[in-house]
Amino acid sequence: MKVLLIGGGGREHALAWTLARSQGCEELHAAPGNPGIAALGACHPVRPADAESVLALGRALGIDLVVVGPEAPLVAGLADELRRAGIAVFGPSRAAARIEGSKAFAKDVLHAAHVPTAATLPVARPPCVVKADGLAAGKGVFVCRTPEELDAGLRAAAALGGPTVLEELLEGEELSVFAVADGERSVALGAARDYKRSLDGDAGPNTGGMGAFSPAPGVGPAELEELVDLAHRPVLAELARRGSPFTGLLYAGLMLTADGPRVLEFNCRFGDPETQALLPALEGDLLPTLAAAAAGDLTGVVPPVVRTAAVTISLVASGYPERGDTGSEIGGLAEAEAAGAIVFHAGTALREGRLITNGGRILNVTATADDLDAARDAAYAAAELVSFAGCRYRRDIARPGGVCVGG
Ligand code: AMP
Ligand code: GLY
Repeated sequence: MKVLLIGGGGREHALAWTLARSQGCEELHAAPGNPGIAALGACHPVRPADAESVLALGRALGIDLVVVGPEAPLVAGLADELRRAGIAVFGPSRAAARIEGSKAFAKDVLHAAHVPTAATLPVARPPCVVKADGLAAGKGVFVCRTPEELDAGLRAAAALGGPTVLEELLEGEELSVFAVADGERSVALGAARDYKRSLDGDAGPNTGGMGAFSPAPGVGPAELEELVDLAHRPVLAELARRGSPFTGLLYAGLMLTADGPRVLEFNCRFGDPETQALLPALEGDLLPTLAAAAAGDLTGVVPPVVRTAAVTISLVASGYPERGDTGSEIGGLAEAEAAGAIVFHAGTALREGRLITNGGRILNVTATADDLDAARDAAYAAAELVSFAGCRYRRDIARPGGVCVGG
């Protein structure tokens, strides 16, 4: 099978790493890919937002399956264009991707499907959460405990444009739960804990993600199925009922509150950086599951299962999430890999054959081991070997008792 992967971040590098190991993957292509993905397949300078060029590339290469990584092209309708042209695609239609693209739409679907979620508030009063209603790369949510934070949150959300949603503030541990759906049926893939805040102890602003680990404590196969029954399956049924069946990866962001799990959000694609932890922890071939979902029939498909623990540390630019960094030389990757870690590229580029920074989240260092402690220690030992000017990362990813409290 010839596979075209859309995107060029750490999540896509992890997908490329996984797909390249699949028996069924004869050729791997990426648009645009990144320097890490280039070691696994052919990268093409085509922007995911340019649907016409993606389609032309898919046709020219005789692609059998397109796997879309990021949300923006899905929300813009890339999967619809590809399907219309007869190319199989793992990723939802524009209509189904609204589950991520519009928080107001997601709330409406959640309520209709009777999935437990944070209450929507009629008036802005602390404590609460202010959300901008469009895509904001994880940066459009403001947790407000004080009147000052609320003022700042309302201003910041308004500055992003579009309507604003107000929500009850939920407390607990967060969990990202992944299921693969074929429009009707779905299979659970795994769960990971993600660290959204910028600084140790869950301080600082929300980011796209500073690290992750899998499996989450207390979430074995049975619990995973329960969560998918609670969150994903009713929403998939509701989307199908509305005439917009969801094909692809449905990601539920949950808060495990004292009163039970509550859905914070749905995403229409793999999580970043959770995927960089989850995929290396899986045993089995992922490609048949993605291909079956794209073909609309998951019947009888056995997805890969989590076999080891994995920890991912995001190495970010010093100014992230406000500012990225470009042009600083990166060193130590070979050493980190020799130490047994996998280094996924996120914001990197090549300049005259040298690897340089090119973004906010620069690299993800993942290590696997039999247990979480060993995986964490290995991931940190490898991360220390990597260097670039201003390199920063959280020190408390997957630490026992380490805080990962929402809000
Ligand atoms: P979202 O983009 O809606 O997933 O929100 C991003 C992050 O903001 C979540 O992962 C949580 O850490 C936080 N968050 C969102 N909604 C709430 C809520 N109702 N209560 C507490 N924290 C929230
Ligand atoms: N790690 C959060 C996300 O992918 O949205």
